[in-house]
Order: sequence, then structure tokens, then C-alpha cells
Amino acid sequence: MWKNLLSVLACPECHCELECHTKNVGTDGDVLSGSLKCIACSHEFPIIGGIPRFIPANNYAESFGYQWNRFRALQIDAENRTRLSEDRFLSETGWTLDSMAGKWLVDIGCGAGRFLEVASRGSAEVVGLDLSSAVDAARRTVSGRRNVHIVQASMYALPLRPGSFDCCYCIGVLQHTPDPLRALRSLPQLLKPSGQIAVTIYERRKWTLCNGKYLIRRITRHLPERVLLTLITVGMPIAFPITELLFRLPGLGRLFKFMIPIANYVDNPRLTLRERYRWALMDTFDMLAPYYDQPMIQSEAETALTDGGIVARRLSNPGLNLVGEKGTAIELVRA
Ligand SMILES: C[S@@+](CC[C@H](N)C(=O)[O-])C[C@H]1O[C@@H](n2cnc3c(N)ncnc32)[C@H](O)[C@@H]1O
Ligand SMILES: [Zn+2]
Repeated sequence: MWKNLLSVLACPECHCELECHTKNVGTDGDVLSGSLKCIACSHEFPIIGGIPRFIPANNYAESFGYQWNRFRALQIDAENRTRLSEDRFLSETGWTLDSMAGKWLVDIGCGAGRFLEVASRGSAEVVGLDLSSAVDAARRTVSGRRNVHIVQASMYALPLRPGSFDCCYCIGVLQHTPDPLRALRSLPQLLKPSGQIAVTIYERRKWTLCNGKYLIRRITRHLPERVLLTLITVGMPIAFPITELLFRLPGLGRLFKFMIPIANYVDNPRLTLRERYRWALMDTFDMLAPYYDQPMIQSEAETALTDGGIVARRLSNPGLNLVGEKGTAIELVRA
């Protein structure tokens, strides 16, 4: 933990200042172990493995901890030589490295850090926050970058000072929480006036819950992670070639993608066949393992942001991608 993180941290219980008690500090100043203690209510939070931890280790998001530690490098641009994460981050936020320069950003639900790695390429200070042990994977992804800060906490009890961020993004997270609306409502207060927010959520339409994955998830979300991944790994040599054919069929391909819960991205020309196979293993697990998968209705998401003083100025697909600013006028465009 770099000590300048303290300027944006606050006690999740009473929102007062935290002071740092160090035990073990690296030669570069990285606080590897110790604790953060609230100056008002005396709650104490451990720093373990260089990461301040504000929640107990076992929580509903642990399938993500398993997934992101196991497949940490798969979606990291620097490791797979693509620009898939960069392109997705820039298009879903509408920001650029120049527009983020010198600002404080927070990545809510950072996973293994695919977007943290992009957002921190310039001079922005970026906080990656996640509930699960994915934070350990994220720390490895951005190791050595002095402008990145990793925190293990829940967006339902944020250890962050209200009004301290210029930009907040939350990509592919809200539907995986017990109350997506409440979770979304927790974000606008983090922003400074005119701060920017970008959120991507699974969108719920009339037919969404008929998707094949929701049928099979009734069983798979209760399986131990290791068992589920083994089943997927054993089944993939059959499922992958079949979906290679079915998903490419003109017209019917879309229907098969909707019905068959195998994440084979046949339309992505930027991944080699081998890479696509690995992504299929991970994203099929990502589809079937999370305890929660609750897509949101567009109007609900817009209202949650508006209530927080944010107005969405862009809405696009795939998924529900809302980009807004604290205190600007509404203008929604479906891209
Ligand atoms: C599908 S992953 C997305 C990770 C990353 N944003 C990405 O797109 O690669 C969802 C992440 O949300 C995290 N998460 C779930 N509930 C959370 C909560 N209440 N607070 C913070 N993170 C949460 C999970 O641990 C998981 O890493
Ligand atoms: Zn406190």
C-alpha cells in the first residue's frame, strides 16, 4: 500500500480519517503489512500482502477470487499482446489517457485488473477496489506501478472519502451483487463536482432470463469452484467445436448463442483459436459460477444515477453502458 492512498480513504463505519500503523515496509515505501486504524471509532483493518482489507476473507464473491487468480493474465493486454481491454475501456468510458492525466480514478470491482492496467498507463492515480481475493491478482497485474492502489472492500461499505474522485468506473460488476440498485446508488457520492462516471451492467430485457445460462445456473452457482471448472474443462473439447459451427450459422447463430451457455467468441478476429479457447473456459466459468447474476432494467439504472446527481449522457450496447457526469443535462443515445 502506498501511503498517499490515505488521502482518499475513510473508515467504512464512521467515514472518519484512518491512520496507518506499519509492520513491514518494502524498500520502495510499499506498506506490506500493518493496519489502518480509525481515529474516531477505533475500528482497525489489517494490511495483508500489501493490501488494506476491509471485509472478511470469505464472502459471496469468492468464485471471482478463484477465477481471477487462476486466469489472471488472460485478459491483460500487456500479457496477451492485444488491445482488447484498452479498446473496451476507452469505448465504455469515453475517456482518454490525456483526459485522465493527474486525476484520481476508482475502479469498482477491478477483478484481475484488466482496466486498472489501462487506466494507470498515464499519470492518473488509480484505486482498484474489489470484494474478492481477486485483489491479489490485481496487485500482481500492476506490480511496481506507484500510481495504482489496491483495496479489498465492498461497494456496500466503501472505505473511500466522499467527493474525492474525478472519475469512477464500474464495468461488469453490479449484476453480480445482491442488490444492484443499491450498489449503483453508492457510486455518485464518490465523485467531485463535474466528476465522471462510467458503468456497464448486464441489461435486463423481456427475454433476458430465458437465456440458457439462467437455467443451468440454478445448479452451477452452488457447485464448488474447482468442481465446476473441472466440468467445464472436461466438456469444452466437445462444446467448443460444436459452438464453432452453430454460433456461425447465418441467422440461427444468434439463437444458439442465446440458448447455449458456452462463451465462445466466434466473432472476435483478434484472438487466435487457442486464445479463444482459453477465454471460452474462463468466461463460461464466469457465466455459471457467480452466486448472483441479476441484470438491470435500463430505466432503473438511469434513475439511480439521476438520484445521485448524475446524468447519463450516453447509453450503448452491448449491455447497458451508461456514461455520465455529476450535474450535467441528460442526453441518452443508444449506440
Ligand atoms: C465479472 S467481474 C468484473 C471484473 C472487472 N471489472 C472486469 O471487467 O474484468 C466482477 C467483479 O466484481 C466483484 N464484486 C462483486 N461484488 C462486489 C462488491 N460488493 N464490492 C466490490 N466488488 C464486488 C467481484 O469480486 C468480481 O471481481
Ligand atoms: Zn470509524
